[in-house]
Amino acid sequence: MNIILLGPPGAGKGTQAQRLVEARGMRQLSTGDMLRAAVKAGTPTGLQAKAVMERGELVSDEIVSALIGEELDSMGADTGAIFDGYPRTAAQAAALDGILAQRGRNLDHVIELDVNEDALVERITGRFTCANCGKGYHDKFEQTKVPGVCDKCGSTEFKRRPDDNEETVRTRMAEYRAKTAPILPIYDARGIVVQVDGMADIDLVTKAIESILAN
Ligand code: AP5
Ligand code: MG
Ligand code: ZN
Repeated sequence: MNIILLGPPGAGKGTQAQRLVEARGMRQLSTGDMLRAAVKAGTPTGLQAKAVMERGELVSDEIVSALIGEELDSMGADTGAIFDGYPRTAAQAAALDGILAQRGRNLDHVIELDVNEDALVERITGRFTCANCGKGYHDKFEQTKVPGVCDKCGSTEFKRRPDDNEETVRTRMAEYRAKTAPILPIYDARGIVVQVDGMADIDLVTKAIESILAN
């Protein structure tokens, strides 16, 4: 099973991907996470990507498609892939077709998280993640069970993303509208797009996605 989670910044792609990984043993392929790791490690890709990401603009199609290909090659052939934040342009969508075909994989579903943009700034500015295991949280919508302690690994260190400020979020949303939303018709024409109400509670969104995957 290979699926794309599609939606603007803060739609819940990463949150839902983490749950699918836990529940179904699929692999989350988040180009945002891969790029942040490259920035942290100071690789040539990271050096190129850092300023672009801080502005909220898109990194080059070649870089992200190469990252996706490498990640797929590191996975077992029968491990399902959840594409989170990729593809984001028509060129990336075309590249993904080739990448999947070369590896004998099929795209099963494109799950569009349908959200109201007005709510997204609050979601993003309240977001934080465990510095040790990467589990995502929110100041208001998904708190740790014990204050200051990660539910999953017990770490007490958390971090926030440098691009999670209101100004950058606005640019990220504009990029989504201009370059990413226009790829939906490509998948619509193949009949594989399913919309999910991304404004519902996190657990309800998970249920809706689970019922799509069960079909
Ligand atoms: P990326 O890391 O992909 O960021 P994004 O697309 O802006 O998406 P986010 O991670 O912000 O949102 P999300 O949908 O994962 O939300 P989350 O689940 O965390 O990309 C970052 C940058 O990298 C880009 O700007 C670009 O520069 C570069 N990049 C990455 N991929 C690229 C590509 N393919 N091409 C070119 N450049 C690329 O949820 C947000 C918060 O809300 C959380 O705190 C969560 O707890 C909460 N929440 C989630 N769901 C709900 C709900 N239903 N109700 C209430 N709260 C909720
Ligand atoms: Mg994310
Ligand atoms: Zn943790």
